[in-house]
Amino acid sequence: MVEIVVHDLRAFTHDRHAVVDDRPYGGGAGMVLKPEPILEAVAGISRGEETRLILLTPQGRPFGQAIARELVEHRHLLLICGRYEGFDERVRERLCPDEISIGDYVLTGGELPALVLLDATIRLIPGVLGDADSARYDSFIEAMLDFPQYTRPPVVQGLSVPEVLLSGDHERIRRWRRKEALRRTKARRPDLLLRADLNEEDRRLLGEIEEEGSC
Ligand code: ADE
Repeated sequence: MVEIVVHDLRAFTHDRHAVVDDRPYGGGAGMVLKPEPILEAVAGISRGEETRLILLTPQGRPFGQAIARELVEHRHLLLICGRYEGFDERVRERLCPDEISIGDYVLTGGELPALVLLDATIRLIPGVLGDADSARYDSFIEAMLDFPQYTRPPVVQGLSVPEVLLSGDHERIRRWRRKEALRRTKARRPDLLLRADLNEEDRRLLGEIEEEGSC
């Protein structure tokens, strides 16, 4: 079971207006999240050793499948979502959180990044996905993009499903899928191919793709 609890930082303030931000020392645009509400919130919510503390920020380490696999091992994640221009630096100093970014762009807050991270992590909990999905997932997608998928009907607006997929020949289908995954990965994410653990067959298929010279 997964339980998600949303905490309002304003509940950890003590002034009449429940202020959580203030102007930056030294001047400049935007507001900075005050340290005390965050430090109090973490002190109140944390379960000590059991808690993995994460700060969502564009300055964090890039989120990816490997981090999702790391996070799913923890029983309690505490995600701090920023707003405004950022956090008072003392939040970092005091809490030493794991800082995570979901990409090189700036969103208005850490809420969407938190949801992205949760979704990618929760689907790795055993039982959340069907067994078939999770098995395929781990062995494949991290090193390689997915092969093209088709479903019925066999022809739509003049576009046909590749003949091999209707052949019932499992070995041919496996080979075709591997080759198309390689083709796609080479075209779109050559960086993944460099890291991939390619076998003899993969190299042969890549050679064929090279000769075909298609997109
Ligand atoms: N907060 C704002 N932008 C973000 C990003 N790209 N990743 C994580 N947290 C953020």
